[in-house]
Amino acid sequence: KGGKDQLVIDAGQKHFGTTMCKSCGMIYTASNPEDEIQHLQHHHRFLEGIKYVGWKRERVVAEFWDGKIVLVLPRDPSYAIKKVEDVQELVDLELGFQQIVPMCPDKTKTFLFIDEKRVVGCLIAEPIKQAFRVLSEPSATKECSRAWRCSDVPEPAICGISRIWVFRLKRRKRIARRLVDTVRNCFMFGCFLSTNEIAFSDPTPDGKLFATKYCNT
Ligand code: ACO
Ligand code: ZN
Repeated sequence: KGGKDQLVIDAGQKHFGTTMCKSCGMIYTASNPEDEIQHLQHHHRFLEGIKYVGWKRERVVAEFWDGKIVLVLPRDPSYAIKKVEDVQELVDLELGFQQIVPMCPDKTKTFLFIDEKRVVGCLIAEPIKQAFRVLSEPSATKECSRAWRCSDVPEPAICGISRIWVFRLKRRKRIARRLVDTVRNCFMFGCFLSTNEIAFSDPTPDGKLFATKYCNT
C-alpha cells in the first residue's frame, strides 16, 4: 500500500487521449510513459506545495463557508514566507513566468485562499503609482497571445496585482473574485479601493477574462 495505488485511483480511467488528474489537476497522456513520469513528479511536488497545516498566528482577513483568506506580510515567520515562496514557484511554473523580482519586496502582500488543508488560491499585490489601461481589442499578432494593446497614457493606481492564481480544480467558484475583493478592502488601511485603483500586471488570457468581468460588475 502506498502513494502509487492512490495515484492510480485518483487519475481515474486511463484513456488513450488525455487525462486530468483529479488530485493535482495536471492534464497529461496516460499512455505516454514520459508524460506519466512528468505527471508523477508534478503530482507529488504540487500536493506538497499547496499543503497547509495551519499556523499558530495566522492573519485571517476573510472567512467564508468554503474557506478563508490568510494574509502573509514580508516580515512574517519563515514558515509563512516559505509557504508563499513554494506556492509562487508552482504558480510561476504553471504560468510560464520567469522569476520576476517584485519591485518592492518589503511591501508585497500575499493573500492565500485556504480550503480545508490546502492553498487553493493566491494573490500577490504590491503598491504601484501608475498603470496603463488595457485597450479592449487584443493585438493582431496571433503567436503572441499575451500582447494586449495598452494605452500609452499612464493613469494613477495604488495596488498592482502581480499574480492571481486559483487551483485548476477549484476555478469558477468565485475564489479569485473574493481574493480581489479582500485586497481592495485590506490593501490600504481604512479605505476600499475602487476598480480603477487596482491594476493587473501582464495578464494571461484567463487573467484578462477574469479582470474584464470583475471590473465591469
Ligand atoms: N473564462 C471566461 N470567464 C472567466 C474565466 C475564464 N477562464 N475565469 C473567470 N471568468 C469570469 C467569469 O465571468 C466568472 O464568473 P462566473 O463563473 O460566474 O461566470 C468571473 O470571471 C469570476 O471568476 P472567479 O470564479 O472568481 O475566477 P476563478 O476563481 O476561476 O479564477 C483565474 C480566475 C485566477 C484567472 C483562474 O482562471 C486561474 O488561476 N487561471 C490560471 C492562472 C492565470 O492565468 N492567472 C492570471 C494571471 S495574470 C496575473 O497574474 C496578473
Ligand atoms: Zn496528479
